Amino acid sequence: MIDLKNKNCLITGAAKGIGRSFALALAQEGMNLFITDIDMENLEKVKNEVETAEARVYAAKCDVTKFEDFQNVAKEFYSELGNVDLLINNAGIVIGGSIFEITLDDWRELLDVNLWSIIYSLKVFLPKMVESRGGHIVNMASGAGVLGATEPLPYIASKFAVVGLSEALFGQLNNYGINVSVIVPTYVRTGIFQKSKVKYSQKLIDDVGEKRLREISQSLLKEMGSKAMLPDRAVKKYIMGIKNNQLYIYDSKAILRALTLKGTNQPQYEKFLKDWNKQNEEKTRMHFLKYGIDIDKYK
Ligand SMILES: NC(=O)c1ccc[n+]([C@@H]2O[C@H](COP(=O)([O-])OP(=O)(O)OC[C@H]3O[C@@H](n4cnc5c(N)ncnc54)[C@H](O)[C@@H]3O)[C@@H](O)[C@H]2O)c1
Repeated sequence: MIDLKNKNCLITGAAKGIGRSFALALAQEGMNLFITDIDMENLEKVKNEVETAEARVYAAKCDVTKFEDFQNVAKEFYSELGNVDLLINNAGIVIGGSIFEITLDDWRELLDVNLWSIIYSLKVFLPKMVESRGGHIVNMASGAGVLGATEPLPYIASKFAVVGLSEALFGQLNNYGINVSVIVPTYVRTGIFQKSKVKYSQKLIDDVGEKRLREISQSLLKEMGSKAMLPDRAVKKYIMGIKNNQLYIYDSKAILRALTLKGTNQPQYEKFLKDWNKQNEEKTRMHFLKYGIDIDKYK
């Protein structure tokens, strides 16, 4: 089990949600933190919260879609703190909705934030980690990165890629004394889904109106989110997994049950995928009906 005290950690997307909870919990563990985000207002608030816990903390802007931002952050990190002991590639976004309406620009935007960010981060930080023969890389995937059960499609594609990348790195970097973990959260109560872009057909937008559609999808997401785990609780489990040097860090047994099915009974797993999709469609259909809209008419 790794002792995190006095070690140096970098977190992307630390202004809110899981990243923020990581910052607060790792400060309690006695880590020196370098927190980054594009939302500087909330990042400063997190910095203040962490400083109250008497931890050493630096905050800087890092738009994870920009390689130069990573280079600048790395320079500052090395001069302020030294080696990176724990690198948490956490920033992420969701774009979902109909596959027919998701544009190529939407795909690029999502893959830039969820996947290219990690490639940039590795390119910038890995050489020094290899040189110092140590460190731990933690990539944030999702249940949507191990089960392709439903929407949002670009998000699922990005998170499967993150899982594949992490699993391959786990073996390769072991030779250099570097640990790799991939976190597979189920549903954590953060603002990610409320902020997400959901793409609907033009006819539906014309008939219902963009503002009202947004309200309806927000209320559906809120309903689903009410059952989600609080980020502080989820992060406690993630830190335990990091300390145990686990490759996969899960927060729910439901995912493990589905994965067992995937590995042991393919026909049952295929049925599970189809049923899950049907259930989601039905949930959405019923929700829209509450607002007097027959969503099936727009398929
Ligand atoms: N909340 C969940 O249920 C859930 C489930 C599975 C996986 N995840 C993953 O956990 C991670 C954190 O998500 P969260 O739920 O805390 O979301 P969140 O929206 O609360 O926090 C994400 C943070 O990333 C930042 N961010 C977005 N785009 C960025 C960019 N281009 N550069 C830098 N920072 C950027 C945001 O400003 C925000 O502070 C994501 O990778 C997400 O995919 C979350």
